[in-house]
Amino acid sequence: MTKLLKESQHREAAQIIRDGGLVAFRTETVYGLGADATNDEAVKKIFTAKGRPSSNPLIVHFHSIKHLKQYFDLNPEIERILRLITEALTVTLPASDMIAKSVLAGHATAAVRIPSCKFARKFIRACGVPIAAPSANTSTRPSPTDWRAVQDDLEGKINAIMMGRRTRIGIESTVIEMQDKGLGINILRQGGVSMKKLREQTGLDVKLATSPEELQKSPGTRFKHYSPSYPIHILTDFFDIMGLTYQKEYVVIGYSNHFNYTDKNILYIGKNARQANANLFYLLREAERILNKSKSKKDKIIVIEDLPNTDEYASVRERVQKASIGGDK
Ligand code: TXA
Ligand code: MG
Repeated sequence: MTKLLKESQHREAAQIIRDGGLVAFRTETVYGLGADATNDEAVKKIFTAKGRPSSNPLIVHFHSIKHLKQYFDLNPEIERILRLITEALTVTLPASDMIAKSVLAGHATAAVRIPSCKFARKFIRACGVPIAAPSANTSTRPSPTDWRAVQDDLEGKINAIMMGRRTRIGIESTVIEMQDKGLGINILRQGGVSMKKLREQTGLDVKLATSPEELQKSPGTRFKHYSPSYPIHILTDFFDIMGLTYQKEYVVIGYSNHFNYTDKNILYIGKNARQANANLFYLLREAERILNKSKSKKDKIIVIEDLPNTDEYASVRERVQKASIGGDK
């Protein structure tokens, strides 16, 4: 049985964490599935509940830079970046003995993050330990941006869900590492902070990790991700819509004004990148619910209109791409 708790009951939730249990909680990006990051047995339960490959490491969450420094040596340049960019950012640091082994999944670095969400920080502070937390979805499914999505995936598999609002950013954090000589930043996973923002705010050279060695450091990018139960097609040319949906039961997640958003099977992702980030995962699950309800015997598909190929949309486009092609597992 999974307990549903109000966010005001965070002390009760924190006790579940200290007792080695799993609690889903809101952050500014997506809901996380938290466990005590210093308790190896507790962390292992995360992998089981999600069906996550044990080779994919977890992000460790802290309530403040001071809290982080109790566990890790923080290089001044990374501290500077964390003070400049306070939301949706994860940095990798040399691993610490104080963190449970299974968090790292054999990696020499640990990914750490300080959420900007006040509630998340309050909860972590109440726990009194760092919190290991992946997105609170079943592995391969879209990340949850509301507590009901967590419940749909993990009911009966975790101890509690804290019922908060929809998450503000809606897409996961950007994971970065410092380049070897400390002169720039590599992005290991695109996310809520765009490349342009990283560059402008830090004044550093920023690039996407693309070499095989760099991608080796970005384990999550290998796995299948973000997939609802129906095939996803990306619509690059509006005039292909007839051919694509012919004799199919479909839902369109649209972006341009080519569509009439009052149609029952058209959902609107929003008019800018901020809205697209906030809505993508939510609408993938919404489209799935609509198709689940339909009694039609036709093949069911989700069509997503291609989003602009610009820096601000890069992270959400990457999610759409991954959702449409699948992957290893
Ligand atoms: O916004 C977020 O990051 C959310 C919230 C809950 O904080 N968490 C999240 O966790 O998205 P997860 O586990 O779904 O994705 C973590 C990503 C994976 O791609 C994983 O491979 C990568 O971070 N990662 C974890 N540890 C790493 C490390 N030491 N080096 C490189 N990548 C790492
Ligand atoms: Mg995830």
